[in-house]
Amino acid sequence: MSKSTYETMPFHLETERLILRPWAESDAAAFCALLAERGKETPTVERIRTAIAELLTATESTGIALLPIQRRAEGDFIGYCGLIIGRSSVEEPEIAYELFQRAQGHGYATEAAGAVLDAAVATGRKRLWATVGAWNTPSFRVLEKLGFERDHVSTEDNGEVVWLTRSLP
Ligand SMILES: CC(C)(COP(=O)(O)OP(=O)(O)OC[C@H]1O[C@@H](n2cnc3c(N)ncnc32)[C@H](O)[C@@H]1OP(=O)(O)O)[C@@H](O)C(=O)NCCC(=O)NCCS
Repeated sequence: MSKSTYETMPFHLETERLILRPWAESDAAAFCALLAERGKETPTVERIRTAIAELLTATESTGIALLPIQRRAEGDFIGYCGLIIGRSSVEEPEIAYELFQRAQGHGYATEAAGAVLDAAVATGRKRLWATVGAWNTPSFRVLEKLGFERDHVSTEDNGEVVWLTRSLP
């Protein structure tokens, strides 16, 4: 289905402490450092530039986006939050987020995801999903605070994935 069924998601979101805005090429180094924290293979900055271009292209066809999160006071990039097709669909996308370790534990993910939830409502969507590794207690807590409920569990090569959902608005 084309994005025309829904309004395009707003790409500039502001909360009390955070700004979410579109990707810039200058985010590549920080995005690279964020992915490096996962402790697996670190992608090159060049690879990340391509990934950013791919995210922007995907957004043109889906009308939904992952957005970099910047702290308003410090002006620094602390991670991303947004909507993706992921394991779901463009009609009922997934909410996704990831923060630098140094930025975790301050309520930023909940604050950013709350703004993304409002942005999803603004597109006219009626349901969101989230898929979370069964071990990921902090992520479950974020989703619980946002009113998501557990729906079912699927099994993948690297473990159990819990599917949570929230009806909108
Ligand atoms: C998941 C993630 C985005 C959360 O970011 P955050 O800004 O720290 O989240 P918040 O501060 O908004 O909320 C986290 C909640 O989890 C709780 N929490 C954190 N660690 C916990 C633990 N080990 N056990 C129980 N609760 C925990 C916090 O206390 C907080 O709940 P509270 O407000 O009731 O106190 C961050 O941990 C992250 O980037 N993880 C790596 C990437 C990832 O897993 N992304 C999600 C994939 S589905």
